[in-house]
Amino acid sequence: MPAKISFILNNREVSTSTSPGLLVLDYLRLIEKEMGTKEGCKEGDCGACMVLVGELGGDKINYLPVTSCLMPVAELQGKHLVTIEGLNQKALSPIQQVVIDEGATQCGFCTPGIVVSITGLLLDETKLVDEEGMKYALSGNLCRCTGYRSLKNGATSLSTLLQQNQTPKSRIEALIDFNIIPDYFQKIPAKLQKLAKQVQRNRKSQVEYWIAGGTDLYVQVGEDVPDAEVIALNLNTNMKGINRKNGNLHIGGLTTFEQFADSSEIQKIIPNIKEFMFLNASWQIRNRATLSGNIINASPIGDMTSLLLAMDVSLVLENGSKSRIILLKEFFKDYKIINKTSDEILTGIILPVPPPSSKINFEKVSKRKTLDIASVNSSIQLHCKNGFIEYASVSMGGVAPVPLFLQETSNFLTAMPVTVDTILSAIDIVQDEISPISDIRGSADYKRLLARQLMIAHFTTLFPENVTVKEFL
Ligand code: FES
Ligand code: FES
Repeated sequence: MPAKISFILNNREVSTSTSPGLLVLDYLRLIEKEMGTKEGCKEGDCGACMVLVGELGGDKINYLPVTSCLMPVAELQGKHLVTIEGLNQKALSPIQQVVIDEGATQCGFCTPGIVVSITGLLLDETKLVDEEGMKYALSGNLCRCTGYRSLKNGATSLSTLLQQNQTPKSRIEALIDFNIIPDYFQKIPAKLQKLAKQVQRNRKSQVEYWIAGGTDLYVQVGEDVPDAEVIALNLNTNMKGINRKNGNLHIGGLTTFEQFADSSEIQKIIPNIKEFMFLNASWQIRNRATLSGNIINASPIGDMTSLLLAMDVSLVLENGSKSRIILLKEFFKDYKIINKTSDEILTGIILPVPPPSSKINFEKVSKRKTLDIASVNSSIQLHCKNGFIEYASVSMGGVAPVPLFLQETSNFLTAMPVTVDTILSAIDIVQDEISPISDIRGSADYKRLLARQLMIAHFTTLFPENVTVKEFL
C-alpha cells in the first residue's frame, strides 16, 4: 500500500492512498468528482485545469495558481488545494460578477480557470490588481471565445474594491470581507499546522520517476507516471531559495523560474530577468518549473539552461553520501545524455556574481512570440571596460544535440572592441561551432540565420551607442 497523502481539499481534510504520481487534475475529476476543474490540453498550455495550491510559511499561507494537469498528487502532502468549487459561495463573488458584468464568458469552458487565476492574483500581496497585473495573472489562461479585453476592464473595479481595505487587515481577511474567498480560508493555517505533524515522507524504494515541477515529465510520459513509484522532490523545501556566500549565489535546485526572477539578488545581476521570463512560460508554469528540472531535462533548447550556461554556473550533485561540483558547460555529453549517475540529485546551482560592469542578455525566437518552445535561443554575458570586452560567455540552444556553450566564440570576443567587425567575425565563429538540424521548429539554414540575428540582437541591445541594426543590413 502506498503511504497516505494528507492535505486539505477546499474546506475538507483528505487522506488518500491513491497513486502518488496521479495527476491532481485526474484525482479531482475521477476520484473526487469535482468537475469544475476542466481538462483541456493536459500540457500546461490552456489553464482550464487551474487550481490554487497553498503552502505554509510560518503562520501564513502562500497561495500560487498552478496547472493541475502537470502536478502529482504526492506533492499535495500537507498543502491546501483550492478548486473553483472551493471558491463558490452563496452569492457570486466579485470576481465572478466581474466576469458576467464585463461579458467575459461565452461557452464558459475556460471560465473556472480564469476565476481561479484572478483569485491567485488577489491573494498575492506582491502583485498589483491593475491591467498589467491582470495580464500577468492570465498569462497561463487561454480563451477561444471571448478575448481578454473585457477581463482587463474588470481589473479596474476589482482594484477599486481592494482599495477600500483601509483597515490593517491581512490580504486573506480583506478578501473574506469582500466575499472574494469564503471565510473557511481563515482556519486553514491552523489546520495545516496540525496536518504537518502527521506528514509522512515518501518511500524511496523502486523509484521510477523523480518529479520536480513535472512540467515536462507529465507532457512526455504522463500516461506512465500514475502507475509508477515516484518521489516528489518538492517535498524537500530545503532545496529552494537563493543565498549569497563568498561572491557566489547559491541557488537551491528546486527554485522555480518565478522565484528566480523574483529574487532581488538575481534582479541586481540581470535587470531584465522578468521580461526574459515572459518569453519562456506563463506565471502558472513558472510557479512550477524548476531550474534543476530544466537542466536535467537536457533539452537542447532549455531557455533557463541557456541563461545559466552564459552565467557560468556550476552544479552541485549529491547522492546521499557524497557530493560533487561540476561546471554546467561540462554537464551535457550528447543528446539527453548527462554527466550524472542514476542515484545523484541536482541539489544546487552556484552562480558566480559578475562584476558591476557586466551586461547580460537573453534572446529567443519561437513560432509564437511568448510562452513557446524556442526555435533558437541564446544568452550572453559580457564584462566591458572602455569599449573593450574583458570577458565573454555565450551560449546558444536549438543548434546542436545539447544546450551549447560557445567556447570558441567566447574566447574570440574576450579582449576585442565592441565594433561591427568584431561582431561579424564572432558570427563566423558561431557558424563553425553550431550544427543545427532541420526539424519541426525550422530548417537547419533557418536556424543558422537565427544564430546570426540573435548575435546581432545581443550587441544592438546591450550597446545601442556602439552598434545599430542598420549596420548589419
Ligand atoms: Fe490545459 Fe492543464 S489542461 S493547462
Ligand atoms: Fe469559451 Fe473562454 S468562454 S473558451
